[in-house]
Formats: sequence, structure tokens, C-alpha cells
Amino acid sequence: MIHSGRHFLQIPGPTNVPDRVLRAMHRAVIDHRGPEFSKLALEILEGLRPIFQTSGHVVIYPGSGTGAWEAAIVNTLSAGDRVLAFETGQFSNLWRQAAEHFGVEVEYVPGNWRHGASAAEALARLSADHAHTFKAVMVVHNETSTGVSSSIADIRQAMNQANHPALLMVDTISSLGSVDFRQDEWGVDVAVAGSQKGLMLPPGLCFNAISEKALAANKSAKLPRSYWDWQGMLGQNHNGFFPYTPATTLLFGLREALTMLQEEGLQNVFHRHRRHGEATRAAVRAWDLEIVCEDPREYSNSLTAVFMPEGHNADEFRRIILENFDMSLGAGLSKLAGKVFRIGHLGSFNDLMLAGTLSGVEMGLRLAAVPHREGGVTAALQSLAASKT
Ligand SMILES: Cc1ncc(COP(=O)(O)O)c(C=O)c1O
Repeated sequence: MIHSGRHFLQIPGPTNVPDRVLRAMHRAVIDHRGPEFSKLALEILEGLRPIFQTSGHVVIYPGSGTGAWEAAIVNTLSAGDRVLAFETGQFSNLWRQAAEHFGVEVEYVPGNWRHGASAAEALARLSADHAHTFKAVMVVHNETSTGVSSSIADIRQAMNQANHPALLMVDTISSLGSVDFRQDEWGVDVAVAGSQKGLMLPPGLCFNAISEKALAANKSAKLPRSYWDWQGMLGQNHNGFFPYTPATTLLFGLREALTMLQEEGLQNVFHRHRRHGEATRAAVRAWDLEIVCEDPREYSNSLTAVFMPEGHNADEFRRIILENFDMSLGAGLSKLAGKVFRIGHLGSFNDLMLAGTLSGVEMGLRLAAVPHREGGVTAALQSLAASKT
């Protein structure tokens, strides 16, 4: 089928890349060892700090988010170290596996994929660890497979209450630049991020934001590392250079994306994502479908995962929507495959894009004969109108 107009990319990342960012990347590559590059890199490294809400170091790798997970692990831990992690969904599972591949012992708090990381569990397990054998706590801030967020402030409070010195490592891949994340205030030691979601870039860059405490741990961490080594990166970044060839073109895009976030104002960006999250959930409720996230305090404002009614396959539903309306929705991952579809509402996005997205879902429900109530789009429009400032 031939489609006209723009494709709707409403998966929860990669997200729509704004024209301004595309244009910023549409240029000749420059010498990454020359003065123009060094100026660009220094500007970006400084500009990333407010996005993580940190005064600490941020490093940029050419790589996907999975690489930044690995960087967090190999730079701070040694084989045989214990870490505490929480099962929130597929991405917490994969991060856990990455740690285990390096011989790190993961105590994994089980979860049903409908709730965030439990601060009460963190408190209990850390308080019982009198010998301080846990070297790190690993939490996915916004679980992209389920649309559930975890309170990092509460996890930090539990760590403080237990008086536990473990590092706090947080995956912000689908929250950074969309949902409030405060590296310094929440005492996060390593934040893990990627370019393809709230930062509105194509995939291809990943990040670690690093506290002083994490840098100190880096000195004694024994896991082998080369490409991901913070010291090599920080040593060169100091002068605006990289230890290997950087993704120059993506960095031009990143500079523009940072300018856009700064122009809009981070608080306004968070407010916009909140409004779109609320409006999406209003639509889902009006359709009488079920949101995967069970606790309203943990709703994700960057995506909404929705259960298909019994007897209906989510992938077939997504196929019908793609074919008929040229819109991509997120698939259910792993144990949610076929059972769940995910609506991405993060990144470069506005009210009318959301209205179009939800209209596509509503038309798809009708076309696929999925049992639902009418009125989801109307409910979303009412929610948007009521929250318009
Ligand atoms: C929360 C989260 N963590 C990690 C990843 C893995 O990132 P990547 O696919 O860029 O390697 C993703 C990807 O969607 C994610 O959403």
C-alpha cells in the first residue's frame, strides 16, 4: 500500500526526529581532531549537564543504550561483586543479564511487570546487608516495556535510611528529557541514557552521567574495560576530544536538540509529557481497555502500554494499523508479546500529533473489531483542553 503524508512513528523510541535536528545533521563531516570539533564537543558536554540535572561529568559514546548499561557496570564493579536490582520488565531483565555476563552477582527483587521498584524492598534488603556486600543498586527509571516508572527519590531515601554506601545506578533511557530526572538531588551515581528517545535524535549515541563517588569506585573496579573506559574518555573530553572516532554527525544533531530543550525549558518539557500521558490514559480508560501500569503514582508519561482484550492479538492489531494508517505502535516485549501494544508519546511531539495517534488507535480498534467503547479520542481531547495553560 502506498501512503502519502508523514509516517506516524509512535513506538516508545526511537522517536520522531525534528526537522531542525535533521537539518543540523545534514552537513559535511569535519575533522574530529580539529578546533571546530573541540568547540562543538565542549559545548555539548556542558549542555548535557542541565539535562541530567548534574554538575558532574557526562560522557558520550557512539553506541546504543545497551552499551551505556555495560559502561556503567564495567567502570564501577569487579567480578564477584553483588548488586541489588528490581524486576520491572524486559529492560531490567536485560540489564541484569548484562551484569551477570561479567560475573556480577545480581540479587533480583521479583516483580509482576505492573509495578515499579519497591523502596520498601530496597530498605529491607539493604538494612539486612550489614557487611555492605551490595556494591550497587540498579533501577530502571522508566520501564519502556511496561510504561511503569519507579521513584528514584524513594529508592535513594531507602538507601540513606539503611545507611548503605552502595552506588545508585539508574537507567534513564526512556525518561531523560521527557520525565523529571535529578541526578544530583537524588544522589544518582551513574545514569545511563540513549540518544533516540527524549533527546529526539536517531539511535547511535549513549551516555553515562557520573558522580564523584562513582569516579572513586572506578579507581578500584577490576572488570576489564577498553572501549567503555571512563578514564580514557574523560582524559580526552577535557579538551573536547574523544579517544576514538566520535559520531560527529549525531553530535551536530545533539547540539541542536539541546538548544531546542533549552528553548522550551526543561520544566515545560516535563509538563508537556505529563499532559500527553494523562490524555493518552484518558483515551485508554474511555475505550475500556486496561493500562499495564497498576499504580497511578507510577504511570509513565513517556509511553502507555495497553492490554489487548482476551482473544485478540496485539501484533495483528498493530499490523492492521500500520497497513491502513501508516502508524507504527510499540510491540509487547518478551512475556507481553502479542498481549500488549505500546503508545509512545515522548520526544518531539505535540497535541495534534497525539490526537492523530489516538485517532489511529481508535480507527484501528474499529477496523480490527476489537471490543471497546467509543469516545477515547474525545476523552483525550477533553483532557488536553482542560490542561492547556
Ligand atoms: C529502558 C531501556 N533501557 C535500555 C534499552 C536498550 O537500549 P538500546 O536498544 O538502545 O540498546 C532500552 C531500549 O529501548 C530501554 O527502553
